[in-house]
Amino acid sequence: MEKSSSSASLESLNIAQTFFTPIHQATPPSPTKHHTKISVIGVGNVGMAIAQTILTQDLVDELALVDSNPNKLRGEMLDLQHAAAFLPRTKILASVDYAVTAGSDLCIVTAGARQIARESRLNLLQRNLELFRMIIPPLAKNSPDGILLVVSNPVDVLTFVAWKLSGFSSNRVIGSGTNLDSSRFRFLIADHLDVNAQDVQAYIVGEHGDSSVALWSSISVGGVPVLSFLDKQAIKYEKETLENIHKAVIQGAYEVINLKGYTSWAIGYSVASLARSILRNQRKIHPVSILAKNFYGIDGEVFLSLPAQLGRAGVLGVTNAHLTDEEMQQLRDSAKTIMEFQTQLGL
Ligand SMILES: NC(=O)c1ccc[n+]([C@@H]2O[C@H](COP(=O)([O-])OP(=O)(O)OC[C@H]3O[C@@H](n4cnc5c(N)ncnc54)[C@H](O)[C@@H]3O)[C@@H](O)[C@H]2O)c1
Repeated sequence: MEKSSSSASLESLNIAQTFFTPIHQATPPSPTKHHTKISVIGVGNVGMAIAQTILTQDLVDELALVDSNPNKLRGEMLDLQHAAAFLPRTKILASVDYAVTAGSDLCIVTAGARQIARESRLNLLQRNLELFRMIIPPLAKNSPDGILLVVSNPVDVLTFVAWKLSGFSSNRVIGSGTNLDSSRFRFLIADHLDVNAQDVQAYIVGEHGDSSVALWSSISVGGVPVLSFLDKQAIKYEKETLENIHKAVIQGAYEVINLKGYTSWAIGYSVASLARSILRNQRKIHPVSILAKNFYGIDGEVFLSLPAQLGRAGVLGVTNAHLTDEEMQQLRDSAKTIMEFQTQLGL
């Protein structure tokens, strides 16, 4: 006869107690200890790179995976569970049902339709909009106090879509934006100057895409502002070299996709760094896609990347970086590009 699930769990409890003698007078867990949970929607290349980075970095107590393909989903869940002996202890769950995401602190959305041959960007966006209509409302319902982090492309417009569909306050809806572009930028500058990328402070803001803006005026290495230092020392630098570095940042994703078919590792680390700043309340500044209205002279309801401080409540604030007139104009142009695209959705 089949056992009921309650008698089965009672039995496993008894077995656990036979195997391991509990110390009943031991201090109970601190009531302030918060159980943390992340859900990752979409277990493709990007979702799995994020999931495995989160696991290796010991960021949560529970990780829930959701995908529309049940076989792939179960396969990925089992494959990760089988690494339990080598990883920090994390409960890994997976289901096509959004109930599995209930009570998440952070929901990371990576599900997305891929561009098909000769398909326009707008058509792709329309297909992703339909997909988000299936994903965002059940996520918001199951984790009404959680934070949404959108990774699917085009990330800025889809973060706007997630904000509209969730009904969440804007500080709890974030797009991974140019956090990855900025990491590529820092890598290329570090490579050019032969220094450690972690010592390079440099930001790409605006659209995660072709109209992104490199903030050259605020780049510093080990606390030394690069452009003014070169100016003061009368060291000649070529504008073209700088422009080529920015071009290489924009081309970076296309190059990786042409070579290996998709990007995964860098976006995995990039999103895990955002998850850490949010869940561990790090108040760290990341260039991420946020509601930009009223910042840097932007007046529309548009999501694009600005240097934002992240913590347990989501977006805590925006840095007032000093932008040159040219950078300011480029940022407004970037906002206009996203806005023109966004208004075609009629949301
Ligand atoms: N923002 C960034 O910096 C960045 C970087 C890399 C990739 N991306 C984007 O991330 C997305 C995912 O890329 P990928 O390479 O992992 O793609 P992929 O095709 O490997 O994975 C997509 C996954 O989404 C799942 N899916 C499709 N419809 C779904 C639905 N309705 N509900 C749940 N799951 C669904 C698919 O089954 C698949 O497992 C793309 O939009 C890509 O452009 C963004």
